[in-house]
Amino acid sequence: MLKGSWELRDTARGALEKTLAAVRRRASRRTDICDHLETLFVECLALRPALIVELGSGDGESTFVLERVAKLWDAPLVSVDIEDRAEVGSYFRRRFVRMDDIAFAAQFPAWCAAQGLPAAIDILFVDTSHLYEHTGAEIASWFPYLSPRCKVVFHDTNLQEVFTRKDGSVGRGWDNERGVIRAIEDWFGVSFDETKDFVMEKNGWLIRHWRHCNGLMIMDRYF
Ligand SMILES: C[S@@+](CC[C@H](N)C(=O)[O-])C[C@H]1O[C@@H](n2cnc3c(N)ncnc32)[C@H](O)[C@@H]1O
Repeated sequence: MLKGSWELRDTARGALEKTLAAVRRRASRRTDICDHLETLFVECLALRPALIVELGSGDGESTFVLERVAKLWDAPLVSVDIEDRAEVGSYFRRRFVRMDDIAFAAQFPAWCAAQGLPAAIDILFVDTSHLYEHTGAEIASWFPYLSPRCKVVFHDTNLQEVFTRKDGSVGRGWDNERGVIRAIEDWFGVSFDETKDFVMEKNGWLIRHWRHCNGLMIMDRYF
């Protein structure tokens, strides 16, 4: 656990380096998200989150990273999936909720109160249906619970039938008709070229995008 300030003591530094090595080992397996696992880890770690919410646990790639960030800061991780994905994680403060994420959002404040958790999300990770209407509903349902200084991560912002990883290998995706990126465009009122890496500022958010491996968007609210 990284306690106190960013002046890392030897044990904390050792834990961080060991965890980063574990993330890199996990990322060496070619998946649809492998290129982003280290970025996800480093980005989320730096925020020092008090609550992380993951929408879409799937096979546990993002869970692997997020629960390690949570563990290093002794923070709870709430993982939501419509299927039973309880077993993909191992962190004792991970609470798995099997439910449609829109339905769960309506219950979130009451659920948090019952669990003794703050209903203020520092990191929101979104990787579910990749459909336009559903992603729009996720933004509308979950963004009200974001804490003032927060980070939102969307995977599959550049989902296509064939995707390329940084090492040049390819994998199979599907055409979601720009579902995820279109919903984010609607929310910001801008157009993105998700086939490119880019950095942009909009409405008090720093927006960064990585095009490869199905696309990753990280948005930091800094106002
Ligand atoms: C692409 S997978 C997630 C992959 C995972 N993030 C990873 O890194 O391994 C998408 C997941 O979203 C879940 N899902 C789809 N629609 C959902 C919904 N409406 N509410 C909650 N989970 C949903 C699916 O059951 C599936 O497990």
